[in-house]
Amino acid sequence: MATTSKPLLLSDMVASGEMNQVPSKYIHPITERPNYQNVVPDSIPVIDLQNLNGPNRSQVLDEIRRACSDNGFFQVKNHGIPESIIANMMQMAREFFNLPLQERLKMYSDDPTKANRLSTSYNVRTEKISHWRDYLGLHCYPLQDYIHQWPTNPESFRDIAAEYCRSVRVLALQLVEAISESLGLDKDYISAQLGSHAQVMALNYYPPCPQPDLTYGLPGHTDGYVLTLLLQDEVSGLQLLKDGQWVAVDPVPNAFVINIGDQIQVISNDKYKSAMHRAVVNSEKERISIPTFYCPSPDAVIGPAPQLVTDDEPAVYRQFTFEEYNRTIWTGGLHECLDAFHAT
Ligand code: OGA
Ligand code: NI
Repeated sequence: MATTSKPLLLSDMVASGEMNQVPSKYIHPITERPNYQNVVPDSIPVIDLQNLNGPNRSQVLDEIRRACSDNGFFQVKNHGIPESIIANMMQMAREFFNLPLQERLKMYSDDPTKANRLSTSYNVRTEKISHWRDYLGLHCYPLQDYIHQWPTNPESFRDIAAEYCRSVRVLALQLVEAISESLGLDKDYISAQLGSHAQVMALNYYPPCPQPDLTYGLPGHTDGYVLTLLLQDEVSGLQLLKDGQWVAVDPVPNAFVINIGDQIQVISNDKYKSAMHRAVVNSEKERISIPTFYCPSPDAVIGPAPQLVTDDEPAVYRQFTFEEYNRTIWTGGLHECLDAFHAT
């Protein structure tokens, strides 16, 4: 366990004193700040999954296809995950971040190779500018390989988070099938490319920020995985880039925000877009979000689906193992990693 007089976590730095200014290491250059005046309130499609497994499946697939080719973002409702499971998970996350410092620090590590850990910003070992976020990263599949490393405080943490992960995985698999089918591929095609599969979750905690126009919870990035299923509390903060314009994705109770990750952009040979998004902070309220990242296993070999490669549309990417990609995500920092994987 780490003991130091310098706060390791942002939340404790914020709590420890009257902070009315953002420390300089969080300040972005003037041209790269959130610029809230230019953010538009808009909406992203809300897709009702009620009919995904019925006679109207093809209509739902059409909606998914449109959202994935437009900007890779949609929300889902009637997704089959009970409200109680969602509420318990959010409540548990809030309780965790409100635990006394000494309790939380038992999970602290700044080593990105450690699967289950509490940390701050993104990668404090390599980044030049810090982000206004603490987060608990957890590996969730196969559950029995990781659950013994999860927090035991709050007492029901493991039970509640495990139930949540299992239900989200069912939804993720349904979406992976639907996305595969919507690309004209066999519904099992993408799933079969993911090796033995993996699932990772982050509990993001964004404390109130005295100068939210100078920094980010997370600056613009794409998610490097297959699919992200994001649960957010009732505080706004997620924004996505749509036609060159930042759009606020305001919370819809009990809905999940789904975004396409880099691996689907590769498999689809650029037909689907890995969604560019960011999280902004505010001066009033803490914000919690819980993204689940559905992932390939490290040994999985990812590349454009041969069926989507033609003379007119040659392969945009080379093949790589997910292990190689994942290394780039964590060493390169938050930016678009796909560039390094273009076909020559
Ligand atoms: C992420 C992310 C957005 C949010 O964790 O990758 O983009 O709203 N989070 O917290
Ligand atoms: Ni993200």
